[in-house]
Amino acid sequence: MFDVEPLSGALGARVDVDLARDLGNLDVDALEDAIAKHGVVTFTDQRLDTDGHVALARLLGEAKLPPPYIPSLAHLGYPEVSEISTENGLASLTDRWHTDVSWEAGPPKYSVVHMQVVPTVGGDTLWSSQHRAFETLSPAMQGFLAGLTARHSNLAGDPGTGSDHPVVCRHPRTGRKALFCNSVFTTSINGVTTDESDALLGMLFAHATRPDFTCRWRWAAGDVAIWDNHFVQHYALSDYGGAARKLHRIEIVGEPPQPVG
Ligand code: SIN
Repeated sequence: MFDVEPLSGALGARVDVDLARDLGNLDVDALEDAIAKHGVVTFTDQRLDTDGHVALARLLGEAKLPPPYIPSLAHLGYPEVSEISTENGLASLTDRWHTDVSWEAGPPKYSVVHMQVVPTVGGDTLWSSQHRAFETLSPAMQGFLAGLTARHSNLAGDPGTGSDHPVVCRHPRTGRKALFCNSVFTTSINGVTTDESDALLGMLFAHATRPDFTCRWRWAAGDVAIWDNHFVQHYALSDYGGAARKLHRIEIVGEPPQPVG
């Protein structure tokens, strides 16, 4: 087992594991329980190399290949590792609240990030609990949303692609309900007028990212974070001017979000 220290009252926990040393003996079931309970878990003071990052990700499922417009470490033999950096311009696309790749039929289950380069100050990441977001809506609104689906589209990367997902989904491990819509990829709510969809989504995007539902992580190079991608949104703060920031990310294959039924 390992010690777990909460990051805020809403979500997030720091897990006390030396990944390079203990990967072979890691209690994966306990780790997945911790991710489901806390939404995001972080690991500090790590000495993991890229092989170790890949091995950690494989413990959690099958690694997905990134979409073609995301630079990867394929040239180094790691096609599943995306590189998100100020140098390649991708860091400037993550400073908004989102769920990774929610426009796919099966959005990634987990995002497994290994931080490479951090600015001297700034560049923190925030996560927001979509369980808390759902649970703090009125029962009348919860009931109304539970019957709806929404369109998720990749307007910037590939406008032709998209999927419909339930607006409220259920955690397959805990049964807990969560909101599932984000301002980067959720483009409309199905079965209502455009005006109704715009008004509802505006309300939900603002509600889902209230500071009360968030935690924040100050990175050091080498830190690892794993988040439960269907059940949190995240936001990479862009407050570090021209300084460099770089991370490696592996996404784990996910099932379609489950409706609450
Ligand atoms: C991401 O959006 O997946 C990257 C998060 C970050 O840059 O902190």
